[in-house]
Amino acid sequence: MPDTAMPAEMRVRPLTDSDFGAEILAVDLAQPLSTAQVDAVRAAFDRHRLLLFRNQHLTRDAHIAFSRHFGELEHHVLSQYLDPKYPELYVISNIGPDGKPRGEHPDKGTLWWHTDTSFTRTPSLATLLRGIEIAADGGQTWFADMQGAWDALPAATKARIADLRVVHDLAASRLRSGDLPATEEQRRRAPPIAHPLVRTHPVTGRKGFYMGLHADHVVGMPYDEGRALLDELLAFATQDRFVYKHTWSADELVMWDNRATLHRATSYDTGRERRVVERTVVRGEVPV
Ligand code: SIN
Repeated sequence: MPDTAMPAEMRVRPLTDSDFGAEILAVDLAQPLSTAQVDAVRAAFDRHRLLLFRNQHLTRDAHIAFSRHFGELEHHVLSQYLDPKYPELYVISNIGPDGKPRGEHPDKGTLWWHTDTSFTRTPSLATLLRGIEIAADGGQTWFADMQGAWDALPAATKARIADLRVVHDLAASRLRSGDLPATEEQRRRAPPIAHPLVRTHPVTGRKGFYMGLHADHVVGMPYDEGRALLDELLAFATQDRFVYKHTWSADELVMWDNRATLHRATSYDTGRERRVVERTVVRGEVPV
């Protein structure tokens, strides 16, 4: 099906064999975009859930300005990652104060499958991640299609789990991922919150799993049983057939729909390689 809203000069190239993921060509995100261009990007985003823009020479201001086309930007509760001058930017960098690689992953939670800020009442709609320094080996970002995975689930399993609710908990996920524990203030700002295990996309109406690292336990189910179910569903939904693995090049921006995808970074040699990425996050709505 053609992308009907696409202005003549813009083109869409699939990233996978399914409708999951697309590259948008012939658009310069550093320039002011027309309404038609923004509408086209939005339509491609709803349809493909993951967009790649190559050869973009963006300043921080331009990254933020482009992101604002999609809604209000969040200031993440993990304030240690925010740039004080640009609190809309969450910076993931392994470079220490001496300008050298620190030998430790800066944000271990990002190595686990997750969807951004699912531990809040109105979790992220979109994340726009810009590669600043790219590791030569490793440091990929992988994306899993939660709608494609849901569609592929046997009908009997769908019926069994369709109405379950899951508690997402930042404090628990920080511990599970081996990161520094959430502070008292962070726990106060992000108390545990229940969301549907299967959410309906507010624009397309498609259903998809909503889970990942911050999903801690299933409401009304013994803890271990709920965890086993979440682990089983995660393993199903992150099979290679639902996953696009992005190897970064310089000057790229990737934008994904947190309502319909999971993502994770892969490891790299944090003592030798330099890797710096920055993201903005667009606030979403209460999942239903
Ligand atoms: C993220 O989880 O938002 C960042 C992923 C990455 O570092 O590739």
